[in-house]
Amino acid sequence: MTLKTMNGAPAGASRRAFLSGGAALAGLAVATPRAFARASDRIEGLLAQMTIEEKAGQLSCFADMIRPPVGDMNPLVNIRNAQTLTAELQAGRIGVLMNGVGAQAALETQKTAVEGSRLKIPLLFAADVIHGFRTVFPIPLAEAASFDPHLAERTARAAAIEATASGLHWTFAPMVDVARDQRWGRVAEGSGEDVFLGEVLAAARVRGFQGKDLKADDSMLATPKHFAAYGAVTAGLEYNSVELSEATLREVHLPPFQAAFAAGAMTVMSAFNDVNGVPATANKRLLTDVLRGEWGFKGVVISDYTADQELVAHGFAADDRDAARLAILAGVDISMQSGLYIRYLPELVASGAVPLAVVDAAVRRVLALKEAIGLFDNPYRSLDPKAEAYHTATPAMRALSREAGARSIVLLKNDKTLLPLPKAGKRLALIGPFADDRDNVLGAWGGFFADRRLNVDLASGLRAQLADPASLVVERGCDVEAMIAGGFERAVAAAQGADIVLLAVGESQDMTGEAKSRTDIRIPPVQMRLAEAIAATGKPVVVLLRHGRAIQLEGVVRDAPAILATWFLGSEMGNAVADVLFGTVNPSGRLPVSFPIDSGQEPFFYNGRTTGRPAPADPNAQEYKARWRSIRNDALYPFGFGLTYTRFDVTDMKLSTPRLEWNDTLHVTAKVKNSGDLHGEHVVQLYIRDRVASRTRPVRELKGFQRVSLAPGAEREVRFDLKRQNLMFVGDNDYWIAEPGVFDVWIANSSVDGLTAEFELLPAG
Ligand code: BGC
Repeated sequence: MTLKTMNGAPAGASRRAFLSGGAALAGLAVATPRAFARASDRIEGLLAQMTIEEKAGQLSCFADMIRPPVGDMNPLVNIRNAQTLTAELQAGRIGVLMNGVGAQAALETQKTAVEGSRLKIPLLFAADVIHGFRTVFPIPLAEAASFDPHLAERTARAAAIEATASGLHWTFAPMVDVARDQRWGRVAEGSGEDVFLGEVLAAARVRGFQGKDLKADDSMLATPKHFAAYGAVTAGLEYNSVELSEATLREVHLPPFQAAFAAGAMTVMSAFNDVNGVPATANKRLLTDVLRGEWGFKGVVISDYTADQELVAHGFAADDRDAARLAILAGVDISMQSGLYIRYLPELVASGAVPLAVVDAAVRRVLALKEAIGLFDNPYRSLDPKAEAYHTATPAMRALSREAGARSIVLLKNDKTLLPLPKAGKRLALIGPFADDRDNVLGAWGGFFADRRLNVDLASGLRAQLADPASLVVERGCDVEAMIAGGFERAVAAAQGADIVLLAVGESQDMTGEAKSRTDIRIPPVQMRLAEAIAATGKPVVVLLRHGRAIQLEGVVRDAPAILATWFLGSEMGNAVADVLFGTVNPSGRLPVSFPIDSGQEPFFYNGRTTGRPAPADPNAQEYKARWRSIRNDALYPFGFGLTYTRFDVTDMKLSTPRLEWNDTLHVTAKVKNSGDLHGEHVVQLYIRDRVASRTRPVRELKGFQRVSLAPGAEREVRFDLKRQNLMFVGDNDYWIAEPGVFDVWIANSSVDGLTAEFELLPAG
């Protein structure tokens, strides 16, 4: 056994931001952190003049229900009409308005704030621009399946261009919560179960939203959320409490935030949940000690929607006043929507319960944020109603949505190469509740600001590519969770008259997203009955799965000869699916979440730790092992898995050395060949495992991936670099450490296969 040593860094330093060489592994450059503007003379000058009420105003964000879309999206609205809004703005009692859109209305509102208030401090306009704005891109989970950070950066950029043209400065995205339990509805909003993929995509999305110049008209402030560990809610139940070891918090849930900050994010949102008994929104250790102390974050913390007020329901604050006190003292700069700061901060400061210096520090940060995007010099930046139309839903945006959609699709199964389908010569029946449905293509946040007229349903997308559009028959068969009169009969008849059936089944949009936890993650029973009736016709079935999470596939759906994971792909869904079905695009997506065999396996993820009794390879020798009574604890489709219409062979895995010196770099290479007949892209994945360590370690951990695009017959070498920093974990006393010893390394097509080798990390010196 090799001697284990701590890395030589001083104790304090080793807890600091560990920005894994991860991004570098994927061939990406991590941007140098942008310096957060220091409090300028202008800011100090303003602070000196501000009343405590004006200070509390800068720390208050309200949902603006006056401007379109008008409606009751948010139940707790404090600003009820235009008159109240004007009065509040003139009194300087609002610093941020959220979820109202439209350049003209924003322009007028900004005028009221700047020309009508005493100190003329401009407003920030914020909104949840999560995966597109007017043009909608795939849900973030789907886009994660592309394993393509460049794509994520481009769609975030496009969303920022549309949203800023509509008067917005700030988006509450990306959601970077690592989600290991598919029952949780918000899996749809993030990058899935893996830390490394989460880091890479968090950084890419921040770069995309913010662009190169924060002062540019189309730059949009990004907010990684929800800090922290929201993805670990117990049993996947929305808003539930979180019980987490410090090591798992630091190794799994925090790194994507650090990656987002390293990419330049200047704000962060505190989460609804508690972490080990302390609500995130009153969690001084997380919001101040870790975030600001250890990581040196200088930006703005905003609470989630009324999360400060919810400290009362948590049983952590005695009342609203106490909640405001706890939140500001913990490090929440801006209170979202509850109005607690404007209501209580003046008195809390007067009574000495909150030091004025704490409020001043928060105001400085908010004003610095406004200054950083150039608002003081030009309060009307990006508020040009003419530009709004020009930048919105352009053909280029729609083309990007279609491209992103097709790249997010994962081919799970393709027996006897049923796919791709020919565009002529076959009679097709498109069956299922999503066949010609335009209300379930966007995904959870998509409907918020989308121009729904752009939505392309499956039937329209398919018909547009068929030589004879009449060769496609469409029957819904049933609704998502209910029968429709005569639906089954018509669907079966359509299947009987067809050569191939396309079965569009799965979850509706409102079964995923916030507050949509599910106890099991199966396709609703009525759709399964429809699928059985269709399968009984004996016609070959291609399943087009609609979903915002990993799904438990069972029965005839699981056993269909071809299955495509098509998620919610956004405005161009129908076209994107048709592109893959007909082979215009060769599928290259990979699963960012493991598909379990059974819902009861959740939380289920590929990178669990080794147990003392791992399940044996022989299914008959299973007594007293880590397995379920009825099934092995395997994935039906594992993380990283995805097929293609061509064939890739990965060979010749080589290590530059079997012994990695403490400060050296190990090169892992392999050859990838396209041995099939079609052009295609392959996602080569690099995993490691620490064989013996002072903490039990994951059975595998993704440490790099590369997309390789190859013409038929072409071959290329891929190279990954591994350093000691990629082998670190959180050890004793919660320090990041690297331990010398033997590691396994895989170059793989998914988290459960691959070529493998071993190397040894040598001790320092
Ligand atoms: C969600 C956040 C979102 C906020 C504002 C909350 O319910 O948890 O993700 O940014 O609402 O709309």
